Amino acid sequence: MATIRKAVFPVAGLGTRFLPATKASPKEMLPVVDKPLIQYAVEEAEAAGVEQMVFITGRNKRSIEDHFDKAYELEMELEAGGKQKLLKIVQGVLPAHVSCIYLRQAEALGLGHAVLCAQPVIGDEPFAVILADDLIQGEANGVIAQMAEVYERFGCSVLGVEEVPHQETNKYGIVATEAGPDGELRVTSIVEKPAPAEAPSNLAVVGRYLLTPRIFDKLAATQAGAGGEIQLTDGIAALLAEEPVIAHPFKGKRYDCGSKLGYLEAQVELGLQHPELGAPFAAYLKTLTID
Ligand code: UTP
Repeated sequence: MATIRKAVFPVAGLGTRFLPATKASPKEMLPVVDKPLIQYAVEEAEAAGVEQMVFITGRNKRSIEDHFDKAYELEMELEAGGKQKLLKIVQGVLPAHVSCIYLRQAEALGLGHAVLCAQPVIGDEPFAVILADDLIQGEANGVIAQMAEVYERFGCSVLGVEEVPHQETNKYGIVATEAGPDGELRVTSIVEKPAPAEAPSNLAVVGRYLLTPRIFDKLAATQAGAGGEIQLTDGIAALLAEEPVIAHPFKGKRYDCGSKLGYLEAQVELGLQHPELGAPFAAYLKTLTID
């Protein structure tokens, strides 16, 4: 049995950077080629052995529930039309052994608050947190599977990290680390969105966390911080005082699909990798003259 059985997907944010696309529908349903961002995230969790997907939803998020639900009418129409290939795609969105739970975050009080909302269903076990707008094509079985291996070895919280340009530290949670006895990177401090001059490093936490349940006590005691929100980073800073936390520089490529540029990059690169579309898309791109 996998050590990490549950994953939390906070999807209650307002997605303001993508307005007006996110006015009435969630940013996590934006498609990259032919799948919504949230499906890539769920597939990554599944590849790590996660069986319970916990979505922290807000207003305008109904389409996420519908996406992972059975689509009776659509399936009947496809069946009647003999469209078996499409039927398989629709039915394969979620394997039978995986279950989904939806919890509502009534007010967008921050990522830390969203994670705290999951406490009743997570209980007393370690769990993953995945931000679907960081789309990561991870090596092997994906980033969460890589981090689960680290958890199995060290038995403590693990943060997915990546080096970012120094001038961009103010967009991320940034960690300071020191080498542990087994070559692991031990987090010594963590700070939310520091100005480049104040950042302890350029190692950014990027939308992948494996957390011990102790985080819930810490989040419950966390006051609103940067931006008036309850920050997950502040909860992790408090956790650090009691438990080791490891930074895992994941192997893979990340697309920041919460930003328009990162989203466009993902479309182009995943489009080029697509088994059917890749070749004609590459041919099309070659016809463009870009100054
Ligand atoms: P972001 O900082 O990306 O905010 O949240 P956002 O609202 O999604 O997008 P912008 O910045 O306005 O464009 C990081 C993650 O935390 C979730 C978001 O859904 C996103 O996955 N979140 C944030 C919540 O679930 N609840 C909150 O109160 C805040």
